[in-house]
This record gives sequence, C-alpha cells and structure tokens, in this order.
Amino acid sequence: MADTILVTGGAGYIGSHTVLELLEAGYKLVALDNYSHSYPKSLEVVKELTNQAFPVYEGDVRDKDLLQQIFSQHPVTGVIHFAGFKAVAESTQQPLAYYDNNLVGLLCLLEVMEEQGCKNLIFSSSATVYGQPTHLPLGEDAPLSVTNPYGRTKLIGENILRDLYAQDPTWNLVLLRYFNPIGAHPSGRLGEDPQGVPNNLVPYMTQVASGLRDHIRVFGNDYDTPDGTGVRDYIHVVDLSRGHVAAMKKWAPGSGLSIYNLGTGQGYSVLEMIQALSRAVGRDLPYKIYPRRPGDIASCYADPRKAQTELGWSAQLDLEAMCRHAWSWQQQHPQGFQD
Ligand code: WQD
Repeated sequence: MADTILVTGGAGYIGSHTVLELLEAGYKLVALDNYSHSYPKSLEVVKELTNQAFPVYEGDVRDKDLLQQIFSQHPVTGVIHFAGFKAVAESTQQPLAYYDNNLVGLLCLLEVMEEQGCKNLIFSSSATVYGQPTHLPLGEDAPLSVTNPYGRTKLIGENILRDLYAQDPTWNLVLLRYFNPIGAHPSGRLGEDPQGVPNNLVPYMTQVASGLRDHIRVFGNDYDTPDGTGVRDYIHVVDLSRGHVAAMKKWAPGSGLSIYNLGTGQGYSVLEMIQALSRAVGRDLPYKIYPRRPGDIASCYADPRKAQTELGWSAQLDLEAMCRHAWSWQQQHPQGFQD
C-alpha cells in the first residue's frame, strides 16, 4: 500500500481543511480525532467534496494502544499533529487539561512514532510563542516568550521537539507557527464551528451578521496601532492548509528540524475586519467598544519570506475571499455541523 499520512485532530477546523488539501494533492491518509472540539460530520463533508474515502479513527492521541493499532494497520510514513486544545482564555481556567492534552498527547505520539520507526512530523505551533513582539514583522528567529498556559504548551512542545532532534537528528520535524486562521472552504460546506461563545473575532462577527448575537465587541481601541484597535495577520484556512502540504517537502531524508511562520505578512485591525466583513455581508455590522481583553497584544504579523523561499508557499487568498467564504459558511450552516 502507498505511503500513508496520519492526521491527528483531522476533524477539526484546520485539520479537516488540511485533510481535503492532502486528498486533492493525491496523498493517502488516515484521520484520528476524539471529537472533543469537532464533529464527525466535517470529515463526511470532506469525503463528499473530494469524492474520496479514507479511514477515520475515533480516539485520543494519548491512547498509545490505538496509535500502535493505526501504525500496524497502515504504512504511516509521516504524521501531521493537529490534535490539541487552543483557546487562550480557556487555558488559564484549565491549565492541567491543556498540559495533559497538548503535551502528554505529543509525548504519546512521539513515543509510538519512535517505536514504529516513523520520524516525519509536522507540528501545529502558533504565533503565540512570540508573546509580545519586540519587532515587526515577526521572523522565525524572533525571541520567544509566552504568557498563558496554551502558549506554554506550544513552546514546551517545540522544545520537546528540539531536544528530540538534538538526541536523534534522523528525525524530520517541521514546526509551523500559525498566525490567525480564518475563513472557510469556498464551497461553504466546511468551516470553523466553535462551541459556545466564540473566543475568536471572525466567528463572533459572522454570528452577529447572522443575527445570532447582537453586536461585535471591540476589545480596546487604545492600543498603539493606526486606529487604536488590535492588529493581526489573518490567513485563509485554505492557504494555511496548503502550507502543510508544502511543508512535507521537509520530510525529505536529512531535512532535520525546520520552523516556518504561516501568515500573509499583512496585518489588519479589528475595525478594518469589521469593515471587510460588512462589505461581504452587504451591510454595516454593529459594534461597541469594550475594555481591552486581558492578555491581548497590540500588533502581530508575520515575515512570511522563509516559507516562500524554502517551501515555495505563500498565502494566495485575500481578505475579501476570507470574509466572503467565512460568511458563506455561516449562511449555509448557522449551527455549524450540527445543522
Ligand atoms: C483577534 C483580534 C482581539 C474577539 C488567538 C490565539 C492564537 C490563535 C488565534 C490558536 C484581537 C480582537 C477578538 C472579539 C475583539 N489560536 N477581538 N473582539 O487573540 O489574535 O489569537 O486565536 O492558535 O493562539 O491567541 O485571535 O480572534 O481572539 O483576536 O475585538 O470578540 O480581535 O483583541 O485584537 P488572537 P482573536
């Protein structure tokens, strides 16, 4: 059987879009998800959109017996590891759950991979590891500092991989630092389905646009930015997913440990995002100014040149597409995958 990729957290927002891109690029894969923050429906939609079938295992990445079973039944030659919790505020309320899920999960996966002789990994990291940037745009060599348990699980995860590589340089380890993924598949049939009140700006805005919420809360307009509101590097989830396919180049033997920012290099403020989504929706969306959200930083955006140079990858979809696709998903699936 052809080489197979294991995608952990494959039913999640970025995971499901990446599974779709992998299939469309001709790869064989198996997906693993415990559905703690996702729904089986997302991968059913991927099968329909690609007209391709693939094995899906329901289970936890901390279940080493299950991992060994997957490796024994499929010729897994590489793993893209998405499975993990990712909400900053939630992580301050549930630090032990975040350390258990994100770090014990990574360790279990690495131990089974090592036992099975599979040493190709792509690890979901985050721009959060840069903390409060001292210089913008952010290059991969920028100083690292974290201020919350979620970010710490990503930084510790990166350090685990650095130590593993130092001990055994036959591993090919790719750390991908995501900036702000938003949007949805152009079909409008696959997208972000946050549970409860969305922490992130764009899903909250699309719920306001669809009437589920009254107004957008702008968390602070007194930052040191052009219009006083927070600036972030929003990247289309399809571009981000294609970045993972491109990153597999660094599984070539001898590639070693590689780190890439996956962003556009362009920052947009909250007010600019409200204007952009308002254009996609066709009417001005209501908002009110609120106090700053604890832990937020003023500005964060990537220097994306390294991924362009070494992976031949750069974001292609613009803010208009990000907002149009986010709105299309919200309109077609107001209750997400539970419709
Ligand atoms: C974006 C901007 C807010 C909500 C987080 C994680 C990061 C990554 C992406 C996992 C900020 C403002 C937000 C709202 C607002 N997740 N905002 N009203 O905080 O940049 O990044 O999600 O990897 O690790 O930290 O994203 O979408 O929450 O905020 O004004 O209702 O929008 O202050 O300036 P963030 P976000």
